[in-house]
Amino acid sequence: MTSFRLHKAAALVVVIIALAIGSTAPVTARDSSSTSKHVAKRIALMTSQKAAMDMLTGMAAGRSTFDRSQARAARKQLIRSTGSIRKHFRKPHLDPRSNAQPLIWHAWKDFKARAGTAEAAAKDLNTGSLSGLRRTLPGLMQSCLSCHETYRSTPNSFTTH
Ligand code: HEC
Repeated sequence: MTSFRLHKAAALVVVIIALAIGSTAPVTARDSSSTSKHVAKRIALMTSQKAAMDMLTGMAAGRSTFDRSQARAARKQLIRSTGSIRKHFRKPHLDPRSNAQPLIWHAWKDFKARAGTAEAAAKDLNTGSLSGLRRTLPGLMQSCLSCHETYRSTPNSFTTH
């Protein structure tokens, strides 16, 4: 993903969150400090992963037609994004819109290892055939969910809130 697209995605997330927060936290919603930008970027990273996963699970479940080149592009995107989780979380930024558990920065080695597991699972995705995708997608899905279970305060879904 280009930084331009990431930036646009981050801006969109900020807008959505600002709408969700409504008038209860106007100062936070308008905050443009580097901490908030940092948090918005890592949330945008996660949101982009969800989009790629949605596409692949749609194909695996037969809700959409299997398309090898789309699946391959989603795999590439997931390799890149899971590979940058560490970078996006290295600094212990927290703000009110974040669901990240502070434990991340007390268990940084474990967090990094789980990011590595997700990256390996993304690399292991087989996008050559529908059966290959069905076989390899659950491993990646599991790596997303298991990290959320420990390090995210709303653990059991990919849903945003
Ligand atoms: C190494 C840990 C880790 C892995 C692996 C991981 N995530 Fe996350 N994810 C998090 C954390 C922590 C948050 C909370 C971030 C925040 O709110 O600041 C999060 C948040 C999210 C969100 C919510 C974003 C929002 O709008 O608040 C989505 C969606 C998401 N992840 C999808 C995924 C998907 C899909 C995968 C697998 C491809 C994945 N994540 C893998 C740690 C992880």
